[in-house]
Amino acid sequence: MRPRIHPSILSADFVNLEHEVGRIAASDAIHVDVMDNHFVPNLTFGQPMVERLLEVTTLPLDIHLMIDDPDRWAPGFASAGAASVTFHAEATEDAVRLARVIRAKGAFVGLALKPGTSVEPWLDQIAEFDLMLIMTVEPGFGGQSFMSETMPKLRSLADAVEAAGSDLLLQVDGGITTATIPIAASNGANTFVAGSAVFGADDPNAAIEALRTAATLPEE
Ligand code: DX5
Ligand code: ZN
Repeated sequence: MRPRIHPSILSADFVNLEHEVGRIAASDAIHVDVMDNHFVPNLTFGQPMVERLLEVTTLPLDIHLMIDDPDRWAPGFASAGAASVTFHAEATEDAVRLARVIRAKGAFVGLALKPGTSVEPWLDQIAEFDLMLIMTVEPGFGGQSFMSETMPKLRSLADAVEAAGSDLLLQVDGGITTATIPIAASNGANTFVAGSAVFGADDPNAAIEALRTAATLPEE
């Protein structure tokens, strides 16, 4: 599968978002970081912003919920028309129940794990999700450094996905650059979120293509 690049609008100019999403036509989806200042110490945007974005772009929206109460809010993002809704395992009592609710609304569902959260309990639950997100920084802010200590966790998940013959999307988020993306790709990631590496570039589409090239592993 061709590496998927999802630019994070957390690093975009918030007062010119329509213009900003017009600068990333080469991307596979737009990553939208929803933060509530409780689950993470930062505050961003909610469902009305997502509804408005859907009116100005044809790119799929990949929602990353960094909020305390995904059971209350996640289904609304799916109903609004998001392509995928990812919530954190640390934020809900029953992730499989919530995943089924989101899927029933027609969206892909993702499960996100913070750097310190074990993947072991989820290895036999792969079929309940369309995407799993291994955070490669502590969630909350763009522009942080990639944590390579998360790679063994990604590798064990990738091995389980392969053993299951699953087409789960394996996403990484945080500190992704042309220097770090080959590390994540070689450990099994196929979907890459990049904020500052895309929106910090003079030519975001060229940055997306450079990331995709850097994530493409040589044929074995
Ligand atoms: C961090 C967010 C990321 C962030 C990544 O909590 O989930 O999506 O935008 O930004 P970079 O690519 O700059 O590390
Ligand atoms: Zn994110």
